Formats: sequence, C-alpha cells, structure tokens
Amino acid sequence: MADSDLHFPPAEVAPRLLDWYGLDGRDLPWRNTRDPYRIWLSEIMLQQTTVTAVIGYYQRFLNNLPTVEQLASAPPGKIIDLWAGLGYYARARNLHAAAKVVVEEFAGIFPSTVDELQKLPGVGRSTAGAIAALAFARRAPILDGNVRRILCRLFALREPPRSTAAEKQLWQWAERLTPEQDVHDYTQAIMDLGATVCVPRKPLCTDCPLNDLCHACQLGLEQELPLQQATKKLPLRHEVALLLERQGGYLVRRRLSSSFLGGLWEFPSIGLNDREPAEDKLPLLMADLGVTGEAQFLGSISHIYSHFRLELQIYQLSIGDLPQVAETENDWCAAAQLSDLALHGAHKKALGKLPGEIGG
Ligand code: ADE
Repeated sequence: MADSDLHFPPAEVAPRLLDWYGLDGRDLPWRNTRDPYRIWLSEIMLQQTTVTAVIGYYQRFLNNLPTVEQLASAPPGKIIDLWAGLGYYARARNLHAAAKVVVEEFAGIFPSTVDELQKLPGVGRSTAGAIAALAFARRAPILDGNVRRILCRLFALREPPRSTAAEKQLWQWAERLTPEQDVHDYTQAIMDLGATVCVPRKPLCTDCPLNDLCHACQLGLEQELPLQQATKKLPLRHEVALLLERQGGYLVRRRLSSSFLGGLWEFPSIGLNDREPAEDKLPLLMADLGVTGEAQFLGSISHIYSHFRLELQIYQLSIGDLPQVAETENDWCAAAQLSDLALHGAHKKALGKLPGEIGG
C-alpha cells in the first residue's frame, strides 16, 4: 500500500502517540521490564481481560513461578490454580505448553522474531508482535482489540472488522503506522489510547491526540464504528449439578486435563437429554456418588461457553456419612474456600445459588 492511499502521512501518528503517552500513559508492572518471560506472561493474561483484573494475578504468578524453567516443570494443577478466576483457561494450558517448548527447544531463551514467537502455543500474530516489540524492540505491528477499534475509527472502516478483507486491510494500516524507533513505547501507547480514550462506547475524542486525523470523528461516526459483528446462535445444552455438602465441605472434582475446560474444578454433574426433567437424571448422579436423600432445588443459571450455551440446574444435598465416591479426582472443599477454587464459569455462578455468605 502506498502512503498516498492514506488520508494523512503515516509518520504523523507515532510522535503524537509518544507525546501523549509521556503525559498520560499508565504505569503498569510489565512496562518497566524487557524480560520476555514477564512480557509474554502479561500479554497472555491481558488477552480478553482488563488491566485491573490482571495486575494482582500477574504479581502472584511471578512470585510463585519467577522463571520459564519453573513454569515448564510446574504441575498443571498449580498453574490452573494460580489462574483461578481469570477465565479463558485454555490460556493457562497453552502457557504451560509454550514454556515447555521454550525450555526444551530454545534452551530457555525466548525466540525474538514474530515468526518463531507465533509458533508457541497460545501466541497469535498480534501477541507475537507485542512480545517482539516490547521485549526485543523489533518493529512489529500489533492488532489487538484496542488497536483494531482505533484503526476502524481512524480510517472510518465500514465493514465488520473480523471479515477477511477487513482483517487484511487493518494489518496493513497497523504496519504502516508502526515506527522504526521507540517501538516499545509506541506499542504501549496505542494500547493505552484504546483502553482509556478510544474506548468502545462514548470515546473521549476531545482528549485524543489523533482527533484531527480521525475520519470517523470528522464524519460523526465514532459511536457507530467499528461495526458490530453478527453474533452466531449457539446450541443449548442442559445439565444438572449436585452441590453435595458434608460437615461444611462440598464435593468437587477436577476435570480431566485432556477434556474441554480440562484441569478446572466442578461440582458433580450430569448431562440431560433434550427436555428431560432433572428429577429423572439426578438419581443416577446420586447413585454414582453413593449417596441417598432428598436433594433440594436451588435454582438454574445459564452460561455461555465458546461453542454452546449451558442451562444448569442446581441441587443441594447435605449428608452425614462419607459417600462411596469411586473416582480419585474428588475432593472436599471447605465452603469458605469455594470462591477461591478454579471452578469453571457455570459452576462458579452456581455458588451464587447457595444461601448465606458462600453464595454472596
Ligand atoms: N493489553 C494487551 N497488552 C497490554 C499491555 N502491555 N498494556 C496494557 N494493556 C494491554
């Protein structure tokens, strides 16, 4: 793409962003390091998660696993437990797999090119660009959600931003605007602009250093762009979960690491066929656990996973004696600790149906 295809000289952007960042950029813990391990960890944690939510997790994770070698040799359960509450747990599993690749194939030294970084599990093109720019000062563009929004507005892109054509165009723009020098601060600056000024709703255009270059702003389209992506309709699944209580503890189990949501904890549960009443399946679940009694219905919740929607009916049963649970991956968790456990989304929501302090 020639510079003449743009409605302003691309070299205008970086100096303005750098000046703005010098005054208004955020001081975040991963910005004072060039250590690729720390930068990679922060970028993975920040995928789909806000800075405020990440900061505490980032520091705790590094206190527990300060090097890529320690991460590579940690038990998978430890990593999932350190991730508990951040969500999108595939990131934690990929993190572990990528650490092993760095240790086993790169002798513990992170690769520095976008191409090599992109081969690590969980590292897509934008994350690879961010690590290359932030840790190795390489001129590499990024296109995360923030940058995507800024570019859609700056160039008034009137296409759904995830379409193949839009994606190609956005990467070209990102590439053109990325400077040769100061690529670390430029990358941080453009992410900050998206997070604090060019925000999804009600962008603060009067505070924006690119205001007079922005096509959407000139056309009064800054609230309309980027265009919304059509959402796909997800299939619905039904399950019933049993919150089995004994002496103030609840029975929980870890999902097999090879399964969907692997390594996360859950309450015992069972799938229901279409329109099958929970009362028909609950006895089977209770028989598997070796318990009897009258379970009490606490309510239902619904939760959206990447490829289906789950309607979960929640029952509670209190027992006196230890049940005959056969599986080894079962454990009793004290009620007060349930909210710290890496329960997967729907079962975390199920806690809200418990009465009193646990339910909140
Ligand atoms: N989002 C993704 N990467 C980020 C970073 N390095 N700083 C702030 N927000 C981010």
